[in-house]
Amino acid sequence: MIFHPTRFWNFMARGYARSPVKDNESYQYKLDMTASYLKPQDRLLEFGSGTGTTALIHAPRVSHIDAIDFSSEMTAIAREKAEAQAVSNVRFETSSFEDWPLPEGGEGYDAVLGLSILHLVADLDATLIRVYQQLKPGGFFFSSTVCIAEMGGLIRYVLPPLGAIGVLPKILPLTPDMLTDGLHAHGFEVEHVWSPSEGAAVFIVARRPA
Ligand SMILES: C[S@@+](CC[C@H](N)C(=O)[O-])C[C@H]1O[C@@H](n2cnc3c(N)ncnc32)[C@H](O)[C@@H]1O
Repeated sequence: MIFHPTRFWNFMARGYARSPVKDNESYQYKLDMTASYLKPQDRLLEFGSGTGTTALIHAPRVSHIDAIDFSSEMTAIAREKAEAQAVSNVRFETSSFEDWPLPEGGEGYDAVLGLSILHLVADLDATLIRVYQQLKPGGFFFSSTVCIAEMGGLIRYVLPPLGAIGVLPKILPLTPDMLTDGLHAHGFEVEHVWSPSEGAAVFIVARRPA
């Protein structure tokens, strides 16, 4: 690709940090739904955490969050925000999800968050397997995913070729069914599937069985 994905996101980071949330009502719904599952003693992992907005919102509700992103610029902005907000229980690290170490001795996370990221990964199956491995038995996986195969207009035809020639990161042409099928295939129970309208990002709560 013209930009390696990490360089693309490093280049985008400051602009991304300035851009407002597009659909505040849906974002709030996803935050509230996630929060309803969280407990004060929980340890969370967020991957593709971007500029840290969501991790910093959930921070007061849990004991610790590891928030990782392979873009060092995104991590730098997230750390600046954590310092400005005096949040000390979120550790922002620059790492790909693929390289983040798996838990040793059964000490998995209580929950994993993957927001606006599953359509960007190189291998959806490998990612879902790794999410499962990062979780404790009984742990939750919260995801919100752009499903371009469901989108109206030309976007679903335009984005994949741009990804293929390397102008944009590669985008998987997902549907909500592909996500729920993938989750089931890799051992998750799917608890909740929600989208505000057809073609909008789909929010899924899945659980590693206890
Ligand atoms: C569309 S942004 C979403 C950021 C944030 N989750 C949000 O909802 O605003 C995707 C982010 O995922 C990061 N990313 C993409 N692939 C990744 C991977 N394999 N491992 C870690 N981070 C990744 C990018 O650097 C970028 O910050």
